[in-house]
Amino acid sequence: MCGIVGYIGNKQVVPILLDGLQKLEYRGYDSAGIAVLLDGKIERRRIEGKIAGLKEKMAKEPINGFMGIGHTRWATHGRPTEENAHPHIDCKNEIVLVHNGIIENYFTLRQELIELGHKFVSDTDTEVLAHLIEENNKSGNFLEAVVKSLKEAEGSYALAIVLDKTPDKLYAARLGSPLVIGIGEGEYYIASDVLAILNYTKKVIFLEDGEIAEVSKEGFHIYTIADLSRVNKKAQLITWDPITAEKSGYRHFMLKEIYEQPRVIEENIKGRLSKDKEEVYLDFPDLPDKELEGIKKVLIIACGTSYHAGLVGKFILEKILRISVEVDIGSEFRYRDPIIDKNTLLIAISQSGETADTIAAVKEAQKSNAKIISICNVLDSSITRLSHGVIYTHAGPEVGVASTKAFTAQLTALYLLALYLGKLRKSISKIELIELIDELLKLPKKVEAILENDKDIIKCSKTYFKYKNFLYLGRGINYPIALEGALKLKEISYLHAEGYPAGEMKHGPIALIDENMPIVAIVPHGQVYDKMVSNLREVQARQGVIVAVGYKNDEIVKEMSDYFFTIPETIDFLTPILTIIPLQLLAYHVALKLGVDIDQPRNLAKSVTVE
Ligand code: G6P
Repeated sequence: MCGIVGYIGNKQVVPILLDGLQKLEYRGYDSAGIAVLLDGKIERRRIEGKIAGLKEKMAKEPINGFMGIGHTRWATHGRPTEENAHPHIDCKNEIVLVHNGIIENYFTLRQELIELGHKFVSDTDTEVLAHLIEENNKSGNFLEAVVKSLKEAEGSYALAIVLDKTPDKLYAARLGSPLVIGIGEGEYYIASDVLAILNYTKKVIFLEDGEIAEVSKEGFHIYTIADLSRVNKKAQLITWDPITAEKSGYRHFMLKEIYEQPRVIEENIKGRLSKDKEEVYLDFPDLPDKELEGIKKVLIIACGTSYHAGLVGKFILEKILRISVEVDIGSEFRYRDPIIDKNTLLIAISQSGETADTIAAVKEAQKSNAKIISICNVLDSSITRLSHGVIYTHAGPEVGVASTKAFTAQLTALYLLALYLGKLRKSISKIELIELIDELLKLPKKVEAILENDKDIIKCSKTYFKYKNFLYLGRGINYPIALEGALKLKEISYLHAEGYPAGEMKHGPIALIDENMPIVAIVPHGQVYDKMVSNLREVQARQGVIVAVGYKNDEIVKEMSDYFFTIPETIDFLTPILTIIPLQLLAYHVALKLGVDIDQPRNLAKSVTVE
């Protein structure tokens, strides 16, 4: 996590850095800082807390300058204090740098550097790099000194580095954490994510792992860290619109992103389905049809909300493909000695494409020659590069830390993938395919209808924001939606919420049920409807409070519920895309009533790039 940004050019650098950091704040907001080089002198401003605080500080203590670096931190080593805030400097205030990642051998390096006389002022792993470069810079060739230091450091990094003696150069290096160079007219940007520089340029170069760039106003050179050989790369044009990264009149990014879902789902299906509804167009150039036909097992890997999409994916793919699907959390998968081979299809799901545990799991699967398809939102992100094929989710930038539109976009991608593979492997008939595509095409309008009907949800949030514990129940394909609904609530409102398969309720959670614990039940019609109704009767018998999500005409559940949120009818298999919407809105409105920071909940970060 953490966000880094850098600029070199003819414009005043501070507003550019602050603007970039604001856009990167979703990556962490424990502390922030910037460093500017002017007249050969490095000036730093740092604060504990959010970018707003840094802006205030910059207004009181302004700095002029045309090149500099900035950082917004999600604390890993050392508390979120001003001393631990980046940028970090060496002993002589000649080298200043910002870092996203973790230096794993920092403790050993730190001891060695202390013995050599270096003075440390923070508890961070990052400060070690500033002193290490200082130590290695005695030869006078700064690029070589940086490279030598990076070879001694173990772990991951995206770095932006400034040396006071080379005011015309900015250095950037990457290993394991994303980094992009933005190309302007006589000016260049460095950032963890294109969002930070989208207001200034859409022409970018993505650094690869093991590369270092030397950037000046006139241009840049990229080298490998391994042997300093030159690397030539082609610039790419980003299609994201800067406006989609703004709140556009909504009170929070999360709300805006919830309301973007009809468009996002539509954009994901548009262009990927033939007019006659008989074809799904997905393109996996490195995965010939023959290889996909030979798949014997599917393994889905993801974290957080993406993991919940993966759990729904299991139902979708098993139903259509009739092959066994396992779903694993990235951090669990890599340590469990999984059984995979070249006939395994690994599907990695990640909004950011940069989640460290998912990346590590994908690398693990690579060793067994599994076929890898990723479902990602961010163009050219690390996971997409490790994959044989990618389905981009076209959700546009998701800024709210709690994921919403990326989730429904991932579900849409999973449906498309299932239909594509089902047709290829002939596990789905033409009639079934047409019927499913027909229903899929109706989803955007149905999501829109739910979003227009938020009055009951707002009313319900006003009743329940005072409660402390919630139990979310679902069955079958909507069990993962119970997990995701509960996750949304706890992420942004800090209330305790648990998702549970309704059938398991009597094996434990039923003991918790009383009038103080609302049960949020997902009960659309389908295979497990009757079972769900029986489970709700059990809740009723124990004076439990029921909030239910179901079909409009469902008088039975309506009558049993204290609040009933309706969704339009669809086929059982597609319900998760609809049932999650009221639960996202419920979490949002409860958090709004509680007055907490919805877009940047405490302790969380949008992209978890550390293990
Ligand atoms: C963090 C975010 C979640 C997200 C998860 C996985 O925990 O706060 O919203 O679901 O990471 O992220 P990914 O980018 O891999 O989907």
